[in-house]
Amino acid sequence: MAPVPNPLEALSREQLQQRTSLKWNSHPADVLPLWVAEMDVSLAEPVAQALHRAVELGDTGYPFGDGLARALAEFAAKRWGWSDFPVDRTAIVPDVMLGIVEVLRLVTEPGDPVIVNAPVYAPFYAFLTHADRQVVESPLTEAGRVDLDALVEVFRQVRTTSPRAAYLISNPHNPTGAVHTRAELEAIAVLARQHGVRVIVDEIHAPLILAGAEFTPYLTVAGSDDAFSLMSASKGWNLAGLKAALVIAGSEAVDDLARMPEEVSHGPSHLGIIAHAAAFRHGGDWLDALLVGLDENRTLLGDLLTEHLPQVGFLRPEGTYLAWVDCRPLGLDAPDSEDNVEGDLAVVSDLAGPARHFLDHARVALSSGHVFGAGGRGHVRINFATSRAILTGAVTRMARSIG
Ligand SMILES: Cc1ncc(COP(=O)(O)O)c(C=O)c1O
Repeated sequence: MAPVPNPLEALSREQLQQRTSLKWNSHPADVLPLWVAEMDVSLAEPVAQALHRAVELGDTGYPFGDGLARALAEFAAKRWGWSDFPVDRTAIVPDVMLGIVEVLRLVTEPGDPVIVNAPVYAPFYAFLTHADRQVVESPLTEAGRVDLDALVEVFRQVRTTSPRAAYLISNPHNPTGAVHTRAELEAIAVLARQHGVRVIVDEIHAPLILAGAEFTPYLTVAGSDDAFSLMSASKGWNLAGLKAALVIAGSEAVDDLARMPEEVSHGPSHLGIIAHAAAFRHGGDWLDALLVGLDENRTLLGDLLTEHLPQVGFLRPEGTYLAWVDCRPLGLDAPDSEDNVEGDLAVVSDLAGPARHFLDHARVALSSGHVFGAGGRGHVRINFATSRAILTGAVTRMARSIG
């Protein structure tokens, strides 16, 4: 079979502008959008074929069976050496965020604390708050990794006031791109057990591990038996519009999972399940081509920032297609401005400080650091899942706007 060409170079800016989803429609046409986590890729051929086949057959009914779990099991064995992936301990859910909320309903009560590592994916705050859970932040280290000393303090603190608590991890971490090591995850499992905290791991970015890093599925770590994982092909193959995800329960969480109401499984789209299963089962070559392109873009972005914006701090991500950039040295933050509040219910498209500057003066749309919670202010998140030309254009515009 012919090698898959770099999917990030397949579509022109004019073609991307014909899309109707969020990324290319939320700003005027002169803006380069490098914000929300959609990729500027052509659809993987095996996914397109599976969808075409479903359309030809009129196979557009309700989802059925464990095909998605079996496809993920094959992928997990091949990619991560997870040979005893527990197909029988999975449930389909509409998407990762709604799956997280449903799992929280199984293991916590309204008002209970849910710990997150800030700065973190902004919708964690909105979804947890909307589900009546109390978000408790535990800071990441300066290197954007889990700070185990801070975490144990937070575990201790929440358990003095609450009979139940959960800890929601993003692995790889959005926005710093840290891929948690097995040693880090083992330490987390020990601490969580000691303090009676239930762990939920959002592994949506797991297929997106860049050269040099290795992904460890949390449920393969010793001591993770009462934990839950959420997985999906949504980020790896750009399928956010084709709703589906899987909850996977550890061996001691299986009774909890059995209490998940049957109607939750009505939420994912049948076409979503078909697309995600095709991606996991047949989308490996496409993913490999993507990962090469993302690795090149990671290097390109680092080089462009070094050349044009040497003042900023660039945390080289180990996974995801998101780069967390410290713009504080640029002095673009207005600390007393009203839109500069961190955390809680910031909307993903809210802008402050550097992100506002770059939209207004460079016509580049980035995610604003302050919406990622404590420690996010003064940062921007750059989505580098785009063509080299767009990425280069964006950073040169940003540099020019600084003067
Ligand atoms: C860490 C993380 N979790 C969840 C999501 C959203 O997933 P879904 O659309 O399946 O709810 C994203 C999207 O970017 C994400 O980065």
